[in-house]
Amino acid sequence: MDVDFEIKLARSGRIIPVGRDQSVLDALLASGLDVATSCQQGVCGTCLTRVLEGEPDHWDLYLTPEEQAANDRFLPCCSRSRSALLVIDL
Ligand code: FES
Repeated sequence: MDVDFEIKLARSGRIIPVGRDQSVLDALLASGLDVATSCQQGVCGTCLTRVLEGEPDHWDLYLTPEEQAANDRFLPCCSRSRSALLVIDL
């Protein structure tokens, strides 16, 4: 894990801080969101979430390099953010 950043939920406008010692998924679940998960290792694709703004830092093994480069989806169980704020479609 690297640095702190924030997730913005596009539908509610809520801002959720993500600490350097927690995953995005953990931060979302801790704030009461219901996110579907399975492997929690970036392999299965269950937690795939649309990214609307910001640049994800991809750590998964599910998306192809081309899909990762598009930066319009990410796997919150293992991926993080290169930008201080990531707006996601939740
Ligand atoms: S839960 Fe499997 S890729 Fe995120």
